[in-house]
Amino acid sequence: MKRTLGVCYYPEHWSEEIWATDAKRMVETGLTWVRIGEFAWSRMEPAPEKFEWDWLDRAIEVLGSAGLKIILGTPTATPPRWMLDKYPDMLAYDAEGRARKFGSRRHYCFSHQAYRAEARRITKLMAERYGASPHLAAWQTDNEYDCHDTAISYSHHALIAFQDWCAQRYQSPTALNAAWGNVFWSMEYDDFSQLELPNQTVTEANPSHVLAFRRFSSDQVVLFNQAQCDEIRKYSTAPIIHNFMGRITSFDHYDVGADLDISSWDSYPMGFLLDRVGANDTDKAHYLRQGDPDFQAFHHDLYRATSAGRCWVMEQQPGPVNWAPWNPAPLPGMPRLWAWEAFAHGAETVCYFRWRQAPFAQEQMHAGLLLPDSTPAPALAEAAQVASELESMPDVGCARASVALVFDYDSAYAWETQPQGADFDYFQLVFDCYRALRRAGLSIDIVSKDVDPAAYKLTFAPGLLTVPDSLAGGVVIAGPRTGSKTEEFHIPAGLAPEISGLQTKVTYVESLPPFAPMPIAGGGAFEKWRESIETNDTIILRLMDGSPAAVRANDLIYLAGWPNPNLWHRILLELASEISLTVLDLPRGLRVRDTDTHRFWFNYGPSVTTYGSMTLTPAGVYWEEL
Ligand code: GAL
Repeated sequence: MKRTLGVCYYPEHWSEEIWATDAKRMVETGLTWVRIGEFAWSRMEPAPEKFEWDWLDRAIEVLGSAGLKIILGTPTATPPRWMLDKYPDMLAYDAEGRARKFGSRRHYCFSHQAYRAEARRITKLMAERYGASPHLAAWQTDNEYDCHDTAISYSHHALIAFQDWCAQRYQSPTALNAAWGNVFWSMEYDDFSQLELPNQTVTEANPSHVLAFRRFSSDQVVLFNQAQCDEIRKYSTAPIIHNFMGRITSFDHYDVGADLDISSWDSYPMGFLLDRVGANDTDKAHYLRQGDPDFQAFHHDLYRATSAGRCWVMEQQPGPVNWAPWNPAPLPGMPRLWAWEAFAHGAETVCYFRWRQAPFAQEQMHAGLLLPDSTPAPALAEAAQVASELESMPDVGCARASVALVFDYDSAYAWETQPQGADFDYFQLVFDCYRALRRAGLSIDIVSKDVDPAAYKLTFAPGLLTVPDSLAGGVVIAGPRTGSKTEEFHIPAGLAPEISGLQTKVTYVESLPPFAPMPIAGGGAFEKWRESIETNDTIILRLMDGSPAAVRANDLIYLAGWPNPNLWHRILLELASEISLTVLDLPRGLRVRDTDTHRFWFNYGPSVTTYGSMTLTPAGVYWEEL
């Protein structure tokens, strides 16, 4: 498959006279795709049932006839103001019970049935009108579900839908009471209509209640997306895409991905570094203009798994953004590196966000490929360079990795609900493991818990809430906290970990503050979390005081704590020698990814890095045939 580039464009922001010139320049830059439409509802339907499609018809014609393929976004992330007059109760509510008002975007509650019907209606009209257009080559549903924390809403509509969801799941209040353990603190219900949402309680709500609400909230996103996919598919065979975000655990991306043809995501490496990676100040300074060396790769690998292997980057940072606490400029070469890294991880297409910087409104300080006066911004030349490099690059494919890492949204909900330690964060736990695998030079498949471990040399499943019996048949590394609760968030009858094949019992757990790691005999330490265990399995690691820290039963390994980076590396080295897996120890900032045909190297470091016979400049990308 030929990898391609694209750009996000807002014809409604610019005078029509410049559309043709813009389109011509996009093509000259080597871009194949242009994404439009996703925020333009007020221009498509300025008043209820009063449509103005002509401008969009012309925009599609101008862009398409210039040779660009159109990705058409449904505009449902930005309902027009009149929609609020029609449905004043359509807004999402925050946990404090405050409405999240009109005046920016994403001002809707996923559970509002009438708004969901409106979203379906506008999608149907667009699909009917443009589904057969020769220029229309892909769809985007809505824009970034959960952006600005909008997937979870405590509105009245969410409450009614949640009561119904619980009635369907549990069938009777008695069953719900048993499932949640509501005898505790006399929280028992007689009727589903008594149920409330788990916000504004006096103290912590029942974690089983919260977990149910998180699952319910995820299902609302799935249903909202599904309604649009259903309409589009009636009129169009073009692939349907949604643009996910970085580090979002508020809905199950596998479930949403099941209705998509392609998962994409929006990659803003420098904004993420300062805003959500969890980096310390030293790393923030070191990677300030490059972004974290593992965060983008993690999401390419994760989202590739959410729609059967097809993934894109729908928005790629081109220069400084406007929304992070600080917004520095990338090192020259990084917008090129980020694109190549995405391709090396299997992305079919990378679209830069956005074509021209807007001189007005919220994002006027956000860079584009052009300055507001249409002169080139630095990333334009880099996009052109990537486009010309792609011309001479064969199809590199996307090899299956030899290592699998489970990422599971249910587990994220569970540990966010009851972390038990201030920094016990599921995403961070999985990401730490991923980082260790990357430092060792391994290519990774992120997978759901339905993975068949026999297909991999190693499968890691840290922090997995419940463990299916099918998670066997290959070398599996589980723990900490894996299999430590039931589906409804109780401690299992036989105590944790509930993993078949293990004869190990967790008798108590300790969460550890940052200044109190627990060293492991022979090197490395547990940080954040440690479990005291009784075991009949083989002890393979011990704490300094001799108590067991990791056990093994045949191919199953259980880690009774959260390994620090050195311990992860040690564990990997020991396993690798056993199963003949080649493990490297890459210098800081240097990363590697294997495809079917090539090995790619990326230098995220701010200075020249050497490794073997290679010398990589800052932002350097290097590839060799395998
Ligand atoms: C994304 C969003 C875009 C734009 C961009 C700015 O989250 O999808 O519409 O706001 O961020 O970086």
